[in-house]
Amino acid sequence: MKTDNTAPKGLEDVIIGSSTLTLIDGHAGTLSYRGYDISDLAENATFEETSYLLLYGDLPNVQELRELRQNLSDEREIPPQLVELLRGFPNDASPMDILRTSISALSIYDPDLHDYSPEAMLRRAIRILSKTTTMIAAYERIRNGTDVIPPRADLDHASNFLYMMRGDAPEPAVARIFDKCLVLHADHELNASTFAARVTASTLSDVYSAVTSAIGALKGPLHGGANEAVMEMLEEIKVPEKVEAYLKKAFSEKKRVMGFGHRVYKTIDPRAIILRALSKELATKNGGKEWFRISYKLEEIMRTEKKLSPNVDFYAASVYHMLGIPTYLFTPIFAASRVTGWTAHIMEQYTDNRLIRPRADYVGHHPRKYIPLAQRK
Ligand code: SDX
Repeated sequence: MKTDNTAPKGLEDVIIGSSTLTLIDGHAGTLSYRGYDISDLAENATFEETSYLLLYGDLPNVQELRELRQNLSDEREIPPQLVELLRGFPNDASPMDILRTSISALSIYDPDLHDYSPEAMLRRAIRILSKTTTMIAAYERIRNGTDVIPPRADLDHASNFLYMMRGDAPEPAVARIFDKCLVLHADHELNASTFAARVTASTLSDVYSAVTSAIGALKGPLHGGANEAVMEMLEEIKVPEKVEAYLKKAFSEKKRVMGFGHRVYKTIDPRAIILRALSKELATKNGGKEWFRISYKLEEIMRTEKKLSPNVDFYAASVYHMLGIPTYLFTPIFAASRVTGWTAHIMEQYTDNRLIRPRADYVGHHPRKYIPLAQRK
């Protein structure tokens, strides 16, 4: 039933609706949230300001930021029953599977789950944003056999996340870089996980169900799971001198080199430029030069041999590694930031909704009659 409006595979470049949140120019390699360029925000805004911008539409003033920080702080604890649920899981489960399950369980304790008013939606977005970091950190502590660390009211969102994961407050330089990483990952228009969230929200299902759909999509190695795959690649290569041989083998086996290429960017992802600088800064200051040198060598060869540029996941890997974050937490951290974008898109979907329900081009059997069981060979 091919018709003239059959979309290209993977819905490449198909516009499925309008949005006021994020603008990507794939040819110019630019990205902006609500009109603010990503490099401007990464340089000057905190993740809390960026979350306010995405959820409310403008950068907060002093009072609005104070209120947001208070709301995030008030919402940071998770129900004790959820902590017990986390304790019951095996210690070697995938943290993305645990996060997907925890978000689902969290919905059961939401006091106004089916209140779809804008005020309730914003309260819920902040609740999920705040509690997501606590759930990731709590499982990290439990799986390592250490005490769950309660949040501190005096730390901001990014620092509290690291504090609850590690048990000590991060150095200011580490906190600044980690906060920048959260700014860079907060939203990205209709990427696969955000689209999954919007499809779920378009049925008028609840926010937690939509975020659960998104987490499932983000986990995939073609999407948010790529950052963990990049680190595994860097650790397999070990030294810059082995990059060429690694890529030669990958090309001959037609393997995807994780962290490169993008559906929308036809030039380098602007976030990768910022993350490359952060990776170089950390390598110079904190040690770990090898990780940056291997990454940069990979980038050089992929650009010259394949005309492919790094995406957000590529340098995020060496940055998170040099911040001392275990590889298995890379994608959950991506989710902890992107939950801002997901909930902003979900709210936008609800305000001007129509069920998202595309068609398929049927290429199966022609019509045929039922054959009774006794007559089937
Ligand atoms: C994210 O959408 C978003 O905005 C996502 C994201 C966000 O912020 O939400 O930006 C985050 O998910 C970034 C992408 C992370 N994924 C990876 O790094 C996985 C590796 N990348 C690729 O698999 C690929 O580039 C995709 C999935 C990201 C995009 O794939 P497309 O647009 O479907 O492109 P394609 O698969 O059709 O590839 C076109 C050509 C192919 O060559 P031919 O088969 O036509 O000869 O480019 C080649 C591909 O083989 N190619 C690669 C490659 N990416 C594309 N070859 C080797 N290594 C790669 N990484």
